[in-house]
Amino acid sequence: MDTNLARPQTTASADQDDFAGSLLDGLRKSSKEIACKYFYDQTGSRLFDAICELPEYYQTRTETALLARHAEEIAALMGEDVEIVEFGAGSLRKVRILLGAARSPRAYTPMDISGEYLCDVVRSLAADHPALTLRPLVGDFTRPLEIPVLPGSPRRAGFFPGSTIGNFKPDAAMALLRRMRTSLNGGGLLIGVDLVKDPARLHAAYNDAAGITALFNKNLMARANRELGADFDLDGFAHYAPYNAAAHRIEMYLVSLKRQSVNLCGQRFEFAQGEPVHTEDSHKYTIESFRELAVRAGLRPRAVWTDQDRLFSMHWLESH
Ligand SMILES: C[S@@+](CC[C@H](N)C(=O)[O-])C[C@H]1O[C@@H](n2cnc3c(N)ncnc32)[C@H](O)[C@@H]1O
Repeated sequence: MDTNLARPQTTASADQDDFAGSLLDGLRKSSKEIACKYFYDQTGSRLFDAICELPEYYQTRTETALLARHAEEIAALMGEDVEIVEFGAGSLRKVRILLGAARSPRAYTPMDISGEYLCDVVRSLAADHPALTLRPLVGDFTRPLEIPVLPGSPRRAGFFPGSTIGNFKPDAAMALLRRMRTSLNGGGLLIGVDLVKDPARLHAAYNDAAGITALFNKNLMARANRELGADFDLDGFAHYAPYNAAAHRIEMYLVSLKRQSVNLCGQRFEFAQGEPVHTEDSHKYTIESFRELAVRAGLRPRAVWTDQDRLFSMHWLESH
């Protein structure tokens, strides 16, 4: 193992994570649902990487360009000697831009629920940044944030890109931001937020022509088949991702194409023809509506960057 790379730690709360229990609870509801965090096993993380490359998926390209354009300014706002903590770190591609500009960072702590994938990508980052202390953390950021404190308890700069915050309903997003704020030890949070825009553009981004988002969506059921011995017929469900304009969000479902039953952990679940299983929301904000949310979470908006077409925004929020 590289000497700068700490052994990946698993948070105590991650040990309690229970895909089977959550899936059974969600499928017992009158409106069936599966929690979106379970998209991300090794296969799901790799499918998400493929989504990021799609021509329709403007989010990753736009946010990456914003980071590159404003890296020096962001580094100055983060300050010296900070520990960069990334929530839902994914491929680590975006943080590479920040690390290139950061002013003598004390450490980088990427946190992700997709443990095997995190271990793979962090190894390659360690090889490229041999002098940087890396502390990968496998865990669920919706649970109490147990981030081990470094000697001297340095300030932290939080990094939460990818508009992952959009997966939470506004009140839950506010509560999550509040908990992130208290984990930052006085430091700020850099967060990427997708903006309200032409519904046709949003629709295309979540219904790509190559069908990768559909595969990603179905990975929830494929994962249940792999890990829990379920017998979901993947061809018996269809990806459906409409834009709910009133709620400013893309909603993602797997819709049963026929009357069918599925066996899971010794229980049988009935699906009517046309019955939807809700799998994800992706809320869109205006710059103002997101700033209001941040203020409700006790964060102070200090800077915001957006692209010429106002597709995506990046906010620097201060926690003190
Ligand atoms: C939308 S992707 C964004 C990935 C990357 N940050 C980017 O900007 O491209 C969401 C990431 O958050 C992780 N994730 C989702 N829910 C999580 C949770 N509850 N706790 C920790 N990580 C989570 C996923 O594994 C995935 O890597």
